[in-house]
Amino acid sequence: MSDRIYIFDTTLRDGEQSPGATMNAGEKIRLARQLERLGVDVIEAGFPAASTGDQEAVAEIAAAVKDCQVAGLCRAVKEDMDKAWEAVKHAAQPRLHTFLATSDIHMKYKLDKTRDQVLEIAHEAVTYAGSLCPSVEFSAEDASRSDPAFLVQVVQTAIDAGAKVINIPDTVGYAQPQEYAELIDYLLTNVKESERAIFSVHCHNDLGLGVANTLAACKAGARQAEVTLSGIGERAGNAALEELVMALNVRKGFYNLETGINTEQIYPSCRLLSMIIGQPIPPYKPIIGGNAFAHESGIHQAGMLKNRETYEIMTPASIGKAGSDIVIGKHSGRHALNQKLEELGYRLTRDQLTQVSEVVKSLADKKKKLYMEDVEAIVLEEVYRIPD
Ligand code: KIV
Ligand code: ZN
Repeated sequence: MSDRIYIFDTTLRDGEQSPGATMNAGEKIRLARQLERLGVDVIEAGFPAASTGDQEAVAEIAAAVKDCQVAGLCRAVKEDMDKAWEAVKHAAQPRLHTFLATSDIHMKYKLDKTRDQVLEIAHEAVTYAGSLCPSVEFSAEDASRSDPAFLVQVVQTAIDAGAKVINIPDTVGYAQPQEYAELIDYLLTNVKESERAIFSVHCHNDLGLGVANTLAACKAGARQAEVTLSGIGERAGNAALEELVMALNVRKGFYNLETGINTEQIYPSCRLLSMIIGQPIPPYKPIIGGNAFAHESGIHQAGMLKNRETYEIMTPASIGKAGSDIVIGKHSGRHALNQKLEELGYRLTRDQLTQVSEVVKSLADKKKKLYMEDVEAIVLEEVYRIPD
């Protein structure tokens, strides 16, 4: 089995389903170009049947993007597939992504269909999509809550009808990592000639397990991961691209899996998304948050100044971000404070440093965040003040 994980980015489709994350066509094209620079393998550009605006935006993205596949999402109904094909057909590498629910609860309450009817629809939909587009992906919506034996039948039907990619979504973020890995393994083992298709995973983050589930599934043999920048998406979001990719990179020896992502484009991509949707990146967000490379504790700062690997498992440069930040706060040591002041051109004696450090700590007790301007003001007051 290949060790390449294909990155399928759905920021422009599932991500846009995140409340408040609507983007206009121009913004979508800008982001799509950045995703191409980032090195994703597939861009899911939208859901063309959802609106005329979405159909036009997908068509524009399809025309603009050259280096990756462009997918259009469609339900397993002919009209949706026709609209999606209209939108993606001029892409250098088009893909139709059709989906159909397979869990008992969805089949009964959403589709009002029996298992046999769902098998028939899956067969017809994939066959029809294949008559339009050479690359067809089939998603068994709510797969993680579907009967695994029935899921084998659905997946078998889709592969036999010509699907090249089979997606097993954890639509409601219900799965647990080991259980989800076992489901992927079960499907790869029980679907006949499963190697004819690439198995894909699409994990929602309702229990905060989107990335953990995706990693577990990749270790079990899934070779496409569906993700979004910053993890935006329906409800609690999707598995975050940056977390998945950096976990595979930082723990390469553990996973032995590769992606084609240019990691130095991760931070610029997430920043661009944040600017477009007008939502700041939360400071505590892994990899890309403002605190991810900030060190406040004196013990950590002292370690960092001697060898960064004491408290950093990746460099900011590896995700395209400028250097780590030594944050001056109440836990900071004199060493870090001195270094920061030297960077600003201040040369303090040992006694002056002790004096400044004490005032800094007492101010930090009262203030949530200390800015370097605060620290400079203390130095000016304590060290350079001209007596009245
Ligand atoms: O979460 C989901 O199941 C989806 C499908 C349409 C792939 O977004
Ligand atoms: Zn989804």
